[in-house]
Amino acid sequence: MIEQINPVVDALARAHAELHGVVQDVEQMLKSSDRSRADLGAALQRLRDDWVEHVHFEEQGGYMEAVLAKKPNLERTVRHLLAEHAAMIRALDDVVRDAKAIAVEDASLRGKVSAWLATMRQHESKENTLVEETFSLDTGVED
Ligand SMILES: [Fe+2]
Repeated sequence: MIEQINPVVDALARAHAELHGVVQDVEQMLKSSDRSRADLGAALQRLRDDWVEHVHFEEQGGYMEAVLAKKPNLERTVRHLLAEHAAMIRALDDVVRDAKAIAVEDASLRGKVSAWLATMRQHESKENTLVEETFSLDTGVED
């Protein structure tokens, strides 16, 4: 039997994968000893811009509407993920602001960036689980 990938699941996986390039850039910069404040600040700003674009996709035509159309009872879960988007934008704005003001070697900046990335991964994982569970019974053999 050929397993069909649901387009919503596939689109979310691709959207998450698109973010990973800039996430890797930021992580490399945190590890690098010759990183500069300007470089890290620029990478964090790119991450912020890509993140805003990413959540806009998810909220407007991405997985959220598709999940609610199929399973309206999951509205609370979707609302929670929506609230996380807003909170994560605010948190990332704070990190970008800090990166401009704090020395790049500062452990607190490094800790904030790492914490944000960990939160993002948890958030992505919840989204992946939601769409996979919502569309897991779609086998492409409807009607
Ligand atoms: Fe999201």
